[in-house]
Amino acid sequence: MTVKKAIPYSKDRLPKHVAIIMDGNGRWANKRMLPRQIGHKAGIEALKRTIEAVIDLGIPVLTVYAFSTENWKRPDTEINYLMTLLHEYLSSELLSLHEQNIKLRIIGDGVAFSARIQEELTMACEMTTNNTALLLNIALNYGGRMEITTAARNIAEKVLREELRLEDINEDIFAQQLFTEGVPDPDLLIRTAGDMRVSNFLLWQIAYSEIWITDVLWPDFNGDILAQAIEDYGKRDRKFGGALEQ
Ligand code: FPP
Repeated sequence: MTVKKAIPYSKDRLPKHVAIIMDGNGRWANKRMLPRQIGHKAGIEALKRTIEAVIDLGIPVLTVYAFSTENWKRPDTEINYLMTLLHEYLSSELLSLHEQNIKLRIIGDGVAFSARIQEELTMACEMTTNNTALLLNIALNYGGRMEITTAARNIAEKVLREELRLEDINEDIFAQQLFTEGVPDPDLLIRTAGDMRVSNFLLWQIAYSEIWITDVLWPDFNGDILAQAIEDYGKRDRKFGGALEQ
């Protein structure tokens, strides 16, 4: 029997969508005089713990930044290792993700990945497509500027083909061209490892997200730290550009 922890905040102050910049794998490894790869491997374990905690809390959407369009600048050995980890994660975790009723969605430009990984990603998304406990968006070869540029190009093409009128372009139409189409914007953006920046993550979608940054390095992240973030989120006044009611 699973005993769920008491939630120290009311259900109506829970974010519906949490996004996480999982940073600090390298620093975690350096501190232990270990190769960076070990930090990434520990990062996978942190991801698994976090997914479980998010489901336990009843948060319906989680988006994690696993590989950015800029991460290709890293040494080949590190990129290859991250690809191996991704392959291992999909092979070893797919059934478990499915059993946990998780729907997997990839945001980013998959064509950059090997044919094998693309097939695995497609299969994983297809297999889990009807699951309902959690929508897990994994950002892979993702960049916010790339996403926005692609959306702009798609819209321009629709206008050129006369499928869309210039005057009908609005924020909703634009958002429909993003990888996150149909998904509510993140209420809470968490970044681990202390850096105060958004690193090209979900640039459109985080317009009104609450941001919570912790010095904890990603491999040390767990349900208790997530609970701290959620508790802090629950105390914030969200105004969306408006004023608080007196
Ligand atoms: C940031 O740490 C982390 C990444 C670039 C990759 C995140 C990857 C994982 C959590 C594991 C892989 C996940 C999947 C699903 C494949 P960093 O290397 O930038 O750390 P540093 O800033 O301390 O150097």
